[in-house]
Amino acid sequence: MTTLFDPIQLGDIALANRIAMAPLTRNRAVEGNKPGPMTVEYYRQRATAGLIIAEASPISPTAQGYLDTPGIWNDEQVAAWQSVTQVVHAEGGKIVLQLWHVGRISHTSLLPDGEVPVSSTDQVANASTFTRDGFVPVSQPRALRDDEIPGLIEDYRRAARNAIAAGFDGVEIHAANTYLIEQFLRDSVNDRSGPYGGSIENRARLLLEVVQAVTGEIGAGRTGIRLSPMTTFTAPLDSNPQALYGYVVEQLAPFGLAYLHVIEGETGGTRTPDGKPFDYAALRRTFKGPWMVNNGYSRDLALQTVADGQADLVAFGRPFISNPDLVRRLRDGATLNELRADKLYGGGAEGYIDYPTLAA
Ligand code: PHB
Repeated sequence: MTTLFDPIQLGDIALANRIAMAPLTRNRAVEGNKPGPMTVEYYRQRATAGLIIAEASPISPTAQGYLDTPGIWNDEQVAAWQSVTQVVHAEGGKIVLQLWHVGRISHTSLLPDGEVPVSSTDQVANASTFTRDGFVPVSQPRALRDDEIPGLIEDYRRAARNAIAAGFDGVEIHAANTYLIEQFLRDSVNDRSGPYGGSIENRARLLLEVVQAVTGEIGAGRTGIRLSPMTTFTAPLDSNPQALYGYVVEQLAPFGLAYLHVIEGETGGTRTPDGKPFDYAALRRTFKGPWMVNNGYSRDLALQTVADGQADLVAFGRPFISNPDLVRRLRDGATLNELRADKLYGGGAEGYIDYPTLAA
């Protein structure tokens, strides 16, 4: 019987166990949107994860939407990330980088020359973001022109190339949580006409072009993807999530991606939103490759899910923040540290690199 603690191969990436650290925004980047020494230590402490999915990282200056997130668009950022990947590899771990474009979830004060955020639409989201002046409503976006899409795809391609140059084992394309790619996917946001709006095929076009570019650049065996069919975070659900994500996964299947990572239910919230069923197993049967699940998994549920073969891996978010040695604690059935929720976003070492491990 397969357990959570058995090795697994994800495309080109060999993992020691089936426990992943989910991508987690911590807003501790230093000047120049680079991971600093504290971030090196943070990931080093968590390197016993089978796979670390490093935090969502903007692919270009225009792709950022929150203060102090580490980017992957220039050589200085590549050099800074090298310090992270080196320590994780020295500890025997594996690490991929999550490639991020926030779309309309941004604010002019965070963008170069006070640019406005770009999206599939010019409709403003009902959401806030964190800036130098604290939490503020997001800015009114402008809809990308179709002739700007090739440049956007190039930003993803360069980010993937940079991630490999930085020593990452691969990348995870962030197509979840109502950021740019999902702003194209969902008919609740995408009000375009033309090749990127209207039908499901058209709304999925951007995502598939990104996947084509990234896999063409670094290989499908180094490329994973994250989806969140039932998350409302900053946008309503699609009018037919099962049909939309069913099509998306059907189109993704032939690429032979390293893995598909699905957030079940509402991100960071309920796993089974009231009266809104979704058949994740149907997506898995279509995808066929390594299947990673996430969202509020307890130890028991994670053990059971892998033992039953319902998923190949489980990603943990908040438990990995407060338990650098989460893999050992899950193996031993040990108590978990409490999360200090007021230290999640921004700040210093406290609530970041000072969580205790179990005594030897
Ligand atoms: C956040 O910064 O709140 C955030 C970032 C990336 C996500 C979800 C939430 O995918």
